[in-house]
Amino acid sequence: MSITVYVPIDSSALSLGAEKVAKAIAAEAETRGVAINLVRNGSRGLFWLEPLVEVETSKGRIAYGPVQAKDVPALFDADFLKGGQHALSLGPTEEIPYLKNQERLTNARVGITDPVSLDDYLTHEGYRGLKNALKLAPADIVKQVTDSGLRGRGGAAFPTGIKWNTVLNAPADQKYIVCNADEGDSGTFSDRMIMEGDPFVLIEGMTIAGLAVGATQGYIYLRVEYPHAYKNLNAAIAAAYKAGYLGKSILGSGKAFDLEVRLGAGAYVCGEETALLESLEGKRGLVRFKPPLPAIEGLFGKPTVINNVISLASVPIILDKGGDYYRDFGMGRSRGTLPIQLAGNIKRPGLIEKAFGVTLREILYDYGGGSATGRPIRAVQVGGPLGAFMPESQFDTPLDYEAFAALWAVLGHGGIVVFDDTVDMAHMARYAMEFCAEESCGKCTPCRIGSTRGVEVLDKIIGDEQRVAQLALLRDLSDTMLNGSLCALGGMTPYPVLSALNHFPEDFGAAKTEQAA
Ligand SMILES: Cc1cc2nc3c(=O)[nH]c(=O)nc-3n(C[C@H](O)[C@H](O)[C@H](O)COP(=O)(O)O)c2cc1C
Ligand code: SF4
Repeated sequence: MSITVYVPIDSSALSLGAEKVAKAIAAEAETRGVAINLVRNGSRGLFWLEPLVEVETSKGRIAYGPVQAKDVPALFDADFLKGGQHALSLGPTEEIPYLKNQERLTNARVGITDPVSLDDYLTHEGYRGLKNALKLAPADIVKQVTDSGLRGRGGAAFPTGIKWNTVLNAPADQKYIVCNADEGDSGTFSDRMIMEGDPFVLIEGMTIAGLAVGATQGYIYLRVEYPHAYKNLNAAIAAAYKAGYLGKSILGSGKAFDLEVRLGAGAYVCGEETALLESLEGKRGLVRFKPPLPAIEGLFGKPTVINNVISLASVPIILDKGGDYYRDFGMGRSRGTLPIQLAGNIKRPGLIEKAFGVTLREILYDYGGGSATGRPIRAVQVGGPLGAFMPESQFDTPLDYEAFAALWAVLGHGGIVVFDDTVDMAHMARYAMEFCAEESCGKCTPCRIGSTRGVEVLDKIIGDEQRVAQLALLRDLSDTMLNGSLCALGGMTPYPVLSALNHFPEDFGAAKTEQAA
């Protein structure tokens, strides 16, 4: 009987040499005359251990990592196909604390299955949610999602059930489900990992959304920088069509749902839902005025559910196990789990799916192991390029939308970027303004002009030119952007800028300013 060996095909593992490792294992097995079944799985999200090779044994899956092609002969010599000891042995995969202590609901199958095998998906509880949904009335599907407490994982944390209910109740001859897979935030990769590692869960979630609101067409708007996700999504969509999980009559129910992937061209603002819809319609990615909401007049003017990848990929487990099951995880009004993405200057970067309520400190130290440089962590930016910088004094904050809002911070899409004590926060503030100037769609003045002026003001502060007056101007300008911008790109750029200034005034020359005054 052949032994199953897993080598991830996820982009993070590929970037660290997984392809060469897979080839080396296949070649070595052939040379030694050993029959193996090489499965290319998704990543478990333990990036510092990638490429993470696993072997199926009688004691479960045993992990080795990080493996390079040159390690392969020695792994065979150590009898790794039977879980033998080697310097790269990590023991049973599920016992690695980083993984063991997670609550993986949305990512339950990522790293475990062959992402493009429908059989594997079905063996691992796939499509149970859809089968339940097919037995329910649309309003009852929406009710399950509402009861689960699921809030949008794309950034704004809007209750998904309420959004779906609006679309359900909007009369129209055509409705759409749009998945926002633009994932433009710095330090984020959870959407990518789902699409590469378990594309069926997203397809199932979108199909359930279609049944719930009466939409027969879905689009996944995918950033062009994700070629591996594109490939796996299309392979999974083709398999779903072939087996009757997509198409004119889903599993013979008479209910239709068609699905296509469309590629974005790489503008950050095209992740904003209305700019995304413009882009999907073939136009330039300009933000639309609201109202009307996309739920009433969205794609091609029709009622549209637009949700993030993680929001939609969380739906199958809700319909499988019930809204109450999902709701039991989390704290306060933040229910369920969040796939947290840990990046930047950190010893153990990766994906950590946890119930809301875990603290930043636990993520940074218990999981992350502190900074990669070994220096003190001075600041983290949570929630992408528009998220606030948080100082050490706030590391005991639980990951909870309301707890973050109380500190004038955001959880956003759950990305955490770590900086050690060599970071210069005035330069980080300047970077935030520059990013906004670069990515602004140009529709409104506070963002289009304000961000460019913001860079100039910060250059003067950094250059020690009229510092007191320029600092006052920076606050004034931030106030205008906060209150006068049409969308959150201009409206939230003051978050990183002012949080840097408020928490780290010394980097803006506060001591000198005080002396001068
Ligand atoms: C500038 C900007 C960029 C955004 N980028 C993304 C993105 O890449 N992915 C995403 O899901 N949401 C993004 N959003 C949020 C979307 O506008 C929208 O809130 C989200 O797609 C709704 O889905 P959800 O309710 O499931 O979170 C962005 C918002 C803004 C203002
Ligand atoms: S805030 Fe910026 S990105 Fe948003 S609409 Fe205005 S100009 Fe466009």
